[in-house]
Amino acid sequence: MKTESKENYIPALGLDFLTPFYDLVVKWTTREKVFKGKLVEQVEIASNGRLLDLACGTATLTVALKRRFPQAEIHGLDGDAKILRIARRKAAANGAEINFSEALSTALPYPDEHFDAIVTSLFFHHLTPANKRKTLGEVFRVLKTGGTLHLADWGKAANILMKAASQPIVWLDGATTADSLQGRLPELAAGAGFTEIRETANFGTFFGTIRIHKARKPL
Ligand SMILES: C[S@@+](CC[C@H](N)C(=O)[O-])C[C@H]1O[C@@H](n2cnc3c(N)ncnc32)[C@H](O)[C@@H]1O
Repeated sequence: MKTESKENYIPALGLDFLTPFYDLVVKWTTREKVFKGKLVEQVEIASNGRLLDLACGTATLTVALKRRFPQAEIHGLDGDAKILRIARRKAAANGAEINFSEALSTALPYPDEHFDAIVTSLFFHHLTPANKRKTLGEVFRVLKTGGTLHLADWGKAANILMKAASQPIVWLDGATTADSLQGRLPELAAGAGFTEIRETANFGTFFGTIRIHKARKPL
């Protein structure tokens, strides 16, 4: 269920009619297996822990998380009903039991201190600066004390080639990409109260540099 208006909402590939092609585009242009594999690998929770894939899209990462933690309670949230239909089909085809919710990241439908870890991929650049702050506040609220955030997104270009490559993302997703591409996500996470914020990996792709960060809700 949606909890607030979809003003400034950017669908998966920037334009709604492109959503059915999302998996193909991401697979062939972002080294998806490699960077999502790294995300899955760096999550450490108890085998029966509770995990959220925030803005899960078509649930490729959510299904991979369920595969790594078969006993865990895995949730996937997205604001787009259309992409969630693809996600549910993919989970069913893989026999993965996942709890999907349609909601916005700025008003998460979960109680405080609910998740052991939250993972999110290629999402934050969709949010305005104000909604990035609001979303990080919500992520902080629903994470357990000591819980971890694992965030992969387009970040500061590693070199001039990567800077040129990131232009289609700016064109598709607009002004909200600016602070992500300036490398400001760590600073925004610190502003929300996260500590131990560090980059764990970065990957050059057809559309620029993907950077993975890990952060903790402090004890
Ligand atoms: C580029 S896709 C990434 C999907 C997936 N995480 C992945 O890595 O393939 C961005 C996703 O964010 C969702 N989204 C955008 N704004 C949102 C918001 N405010 N709340 C929840 N989901 C949102 C879109 O519907 C889309 O599925």
